[in-house]
Amino acid sequence: MKANENYLNVKESYLFSDIAKRVNNFMEENPDKKDKVIRLGIGDVTLPLAPVVVEAMTKAVAEMGVKETFRGYGPEQGYDFLRNKIVEYYKKNIISIEADEVFISDGAKSDVGNITDLFDKENTVMIPDPVYPVYVDTNIMNGRKIIFLNATDENDFCPTPIGEKADIIYLCSPNNPTGAVYTKEKLRQWVDYALANDAVILFDAAYELFITEDNLPRSIYEIDGAKRCAIEFCSLSKTAGFTGTRCGYTIVPHDLKVKRSKLLGRKGDGDISLNKMWLRRQTTKFNGVSYIVQRGAEAVFTEEGQKQIRENLGYYQQNAKVIADTMTELGIEFAGGINSPYIWLKCPNHMGSWEFFDYLLENIMVVGTPGAGFGKNGEGYFRLTSFGDKDKTIEAMKRFKALFSGSSEE
Ligand code: MLT
Repeated sequence: MKANENYLNVKESYLFSDIAKRVNNFMEENPDKKDKVIRLGIGDVTLPLAPVVVEAMTKAVAEMGVKETFRGYGPEQGYDFLRNKIVEYYKKNIISIEADEVFISDGAKSDVGNITDLFDKENTVMIPDPVYPVYVDTNIMNGRKIIFLNATDENDFCPTPIGEKADIIYLCSPNNPTGAVYTKEKLRQWVDYALANDAVILFDAAYELFITEDNLPRSIYEIDGAKRCAIEFCSLSKTAGFTGTRCGYTIVPHDLKVKRSKLLGRKGDGDISLNKMWLRRQTTKFNGVSYIVQRGAEAVFTEEGQKQIRENLGYYQQNAKVIADTMTELGIEFAGGINSPYIWLKCPNHMGSWEFFDYLLENIMVVGTPGAGFGKNGEGYFRLTSFGDKDKTIEAMKRFKALFSGSSEE
């Protein structure tokens, strides 16, 4: 047996596992401070599922307990009742997609990792830095060459194409971790680039519902031509509180094709459809999301569901404002917080990001995510999430103020 040696090239542990371990160690070593720890690190939601979702799931559980309505294996790509709801959801945003372009998933993380199955190892990948670590790690595991693009305050954390050629481009907007959002003009540059270079854009739109400003695109398909070059990943984790129940969806348009001339030595007619390849991949390696969860997800897309999840989003948006206002008051530079659940701040006093992580944990027991965990350009930055409990977020910001005005309460 020979192991996949590419695994030796990824960091020993996943960023958020690393943070959880450090926090657990701190709590073991400081049992008196254990209950004071406030976690604003991983973007995990705190509000429960919306009542319509719970009701739909409960009904589905009951159906599963009755012979006549019991369901076994479902379609790997998702039930039509949910795929059709997602088609309608896109239609409201003036985007027309077909139900068989929608693939129900157990969340965006799995699909952005698994989609790499469709692409040759020889492809070059382009990834902005800082970035959600899954894009980088999954491509390192596959042994692909990665070109990093600098996402800095100079380009508002939304880099545009550079001279180099890539085959696969990852974009995330609203961005994790920086909170930045691509404008239509900037996204157009990427779509033009991808079409000109026969490249594919993997567009992570997991945070699309956090966009409140008009004119900012919530889907890459708002840009003409994107259906010929982009796959879009969405998730109900952050928008509808499904981090524990797991449900998302991926759009693979029929127009997205790989030129047969690019497949050396392969005869046959017509170009290769990525939609067909993904269907083949999913039916082979994935057994679908549970019926109960898909019924809950369906409820998210009803009128009442949308109303209820937007109330939850409002709660997180208010937390984001509390954090952003605190940073403004303290004169700490930051991005995000508007159109995004993340606040990306510059570590005060030129601290390194892990140094700042330890400083906050030890002094005010607040946990965030060190920017360096998202790439080299994240060094010197720190990410706070607005997905925490409201009172705890307010308390964390009180402690921040006390610490940075030089009179820590602790
Ligand atoms: C994050 O905190 O970056 C996210 O929660 C991670 C994820 O969605 O997998």
